[in-house]
Parts: sequence; C-alpha cells; structure tokens
Amino acid sequence: MALRSLLMLPLALSTFSMAVTLYATHYDGNVYKLSLEGEGDDVSLKQIQVLQTCGKAPSWLTVDPERGLLWCSDESSPGTLTSLEIGNEGAMKELVRVAAPSGGVNSIIYPGQNNKNYLAIAHYGGTSISTWEIPFGDKQEVRPYEVLNFTLHNPGDAPQDQSRPHQVLLDPTTSFLVSPDLGADLVRVFLIDKETGKLNACDPIAYQEGSGPRFGLFIRSAETMQEGKTTLYIVEELGNRLCSFDVSYRDGLCPTFKELSCFIPYPGHKLPTNLATLSEIQADKQSLHISVRKDGLFDGNDSLVTLKLASDGTISREGSLISSGGVMPRALAINKKGDYIAVANQETSNVVILKRNLNTGELLKEVASLQVGRMPEPGQWMGLSSILWHE
Ligand SMILES: *[C@@H]1O[C@H](CO)[C@@H](O)[C@H](O)[C@H]1NC(C)=O
Ligand SMILES: *[C@@H]1O[C@H](CO)[C@@H](O)[C@H](O)[C@H]1NC(C)=O
Repeated sequence: MALRSLLMLPLALSTFSMAVTLYATHYDGNVYKLSLEGEGDDVSLKQIQVLQTCGKAPSWLTVDPERGLLWCSDESSPGTLTSLEIGNEGAMKELVRVAAPSGGVNSIIYPGQNNKNYLAIAHYGGTSISTWEIPFGDKQEVRPYEVLNFTLHNPGDAPQDQSRPHQVLLDPTTSFLVSPDLGADLVRVFLIDKETGKLNACDPIAYQEGSGPRFGLFIRSAETMQEGKTTLYIVEELGNRLCSFDVSYRDGLCPTFKELSCFIPYPGHKLPTNLATLSEIQADKQSLHISVRKDGLFDGNDSLVTLKLASDGTISREGSLISSGGVMPRALAINKKGDYIAVANQETSNVVILKRNLNTGELLKEVASLQVGRMPEPGQWMGLSSILWHE
C-alpha cells in the first residue's frame, strides 16, 4: 500500500499542472492580470486582478523582466507612462506614473552602453516617438529623454493627414529601431547611438500612398546558408498587404532593406469586405499569424490567418483561417513554448487561447475564452487593447 501510494505520487503531482500569467490592457482604464491553468486542451483562463492604472486608455505593456516591471503606455491625450511592479509573482502595483506625449500605442526597451536601458514609445495620436531613460531612479521630475516629432504638413485629422507611428520594433542585433507610420506611409528607421541612447534617423522604407503600414516583426534565421539572415515582415492596415524585406547590416551605419515579397495574406488575395483590416502579426519558427479585424467570417467572429514560414524566411502565399473567437482581434501573443496563442478581441472584449501545433505551427482550436473588462457600446472606442504572456 505504501509502495503503491509512493508510485502514485508523481502522477498525482503532474495533474497539479502549472499556472501561467498573462496581462492585458483595456481601454476601460484598467490593466488585468489573468492566469491560464491546466495543460494541453484542458485549460481554463481566470481573472486574478484588475488594477485601475495607466491613465484613461491603457494601450500596451512592455515587460522588463530583469526589474520585474511592466511599462504601460496610455493612448489618451494628454498621455501618461506608468511603471507597474510585478515582481515575485505578487499582485501588480503602480510604481510611477509620469506625463508623456499623447496617443501612446506601443513601446519597446532597447539597450545602450554601460547597462543603460531606454524605452521607446510610438505615439499614434501624438505624431511622435518618445524615448525614456529607464528605470527612472530617484529623479524628482521625469521627462522624456527625446521626443521625435513628425510633421506631414497636411491639414485635417484623418489618419493619413498626420504622421501615425503605430509601433516601435527593435532589430534582433539591437542596433536599430523601425517604426511603421500608418499616416506617413513609411516604415521609419533609426540607428541607435549606443553611447548616448539617442536615435538617428536613417532613410525610411517608403510605401505607396494609402498603404498604412501598421505592425511588424523581425525574424533572424540561423539555419540558413547565410548565417543570421534577418527578415522584416510588415502588415498594412489600409492596403492590407504583408511585405517582407531582407535586411542588410552595415557596421555602424544605417541598414538597408530589399523588398522580397508583398501580397494580401488572405485566401484569394482579397479581403471579403471594405471594413476588414489587418491588425497584428506574430510568428514562431514554422508559422506566421496575422489577425484580421472585421472580416466576420465565422458567424460574425473574425479570423486569424496562418502562413507557413520556411527556415530561410520565405512565407507561403496561401494561408489558412481560424476563428479568433470574437470580434476585432487587435492583439496576439504566442507563449514561450509555442503551443498556445492568446488573442485580445477588442469589440467582444474577450481573451481567447488557441492551441498551436508545435511541429507545424498550425492553429488547432480554441481551448479557453474569458470576457475581460467592459464591452464597448456600438461605435464606442473601448475593449481590450493588448495581451502579454509573462512566464
Ligand atoms: C514636439 O511636439 C511637442 C508637442 O507638440 C512639443 O511640445 C515639443 O516641443 C516638440 N519637440 C520638438 C523637439 O520639436
Ligand atoms: C464568437 O465569439 C463569441 C465570444 O465573443 C462566442 O461566444 C461564440 O461562440 C463565437 N462564435 C463562433 C462561431 O466562433
């Protein structure tokens, strides 16, 4: 009997499977801490904490794992930047909130010399990119380190009348940043001056008028003949294309980009309605996933497109579709192991977890869904804005 219960022990322990933490921002003025419990297909998503923080319109979180911090940007005007303590698996706590340029939608941490770190924020509403020396230390008054303003000299408020930086993205060697600018039809490029942490503008990647580049990612493949080949993938919100660029590094100088391919990554290479737009792109090894807002293909719910990714960085032109489990999949995130993808659906305000095949990169099925925060009223700018795994 004793022997039997000893033998049972590992089995019993393995059913106490791990819980993983996710964080989500919501335009209702809160940041949510969630927990995914269980494993395989048998998982459940729970809300652990809700914290009113990060200004009126929390839009994006960047994790600073070394310091156990989240940096939260705020899309409202005037804007704010908030640091949240998440150390030791404890509850989230607001640490510092400072005034920032308006309309922050995305951020990234980049390194300088002597262990210095900086945070760059894309300000869609503020037509700028700001940078910050982090952590703040015990400064009396925290101000941006730099604010790069972009002026198009166009009258009006339409997205394409103004510069609209939508993202800031760090290249895999941490030598430069790119920023898709939806309003200017450019992907802006900045070489990082390592000594000072300042950003020096390079020649941007120019797009046709009306393309509206929105979001991207870098993939550095080590498995090819040319070791460390880097490819940049960018999706457009207005033209709805996915374009890829081969990146050439030039020591200490601005990188150059060569277009490899551009196509609408949707069956038939055409989106089904004029309302439909591409939103976010994420990838891990075998596949690349793009969220499509307002195609309504699954009984009114929207789609995620999956494209096969070869080890040399080339992508299949024909994608497969799966339901995002809600409406307006604004943001996507893949977990560390690569066996789940989390979707933040803005209009239905739910976080959905889809199972992902580790060998093929295919999205298999929805395994969990949870309504988080306030659902938007028709026409209201509300709902979930971002999602992040913290493992
Ligand atoms: C950038 O724009 C902001 C807001 O309009 C302004 O306060 C700031 O002085 C500008 N900075 C530069 C360097 O032009
Ligand atoms: C659409 O999403 C909602 C959650 O927002 C869910 O209850 C419903 O089952 C989904 N329907 C389909 C067909 O995916």
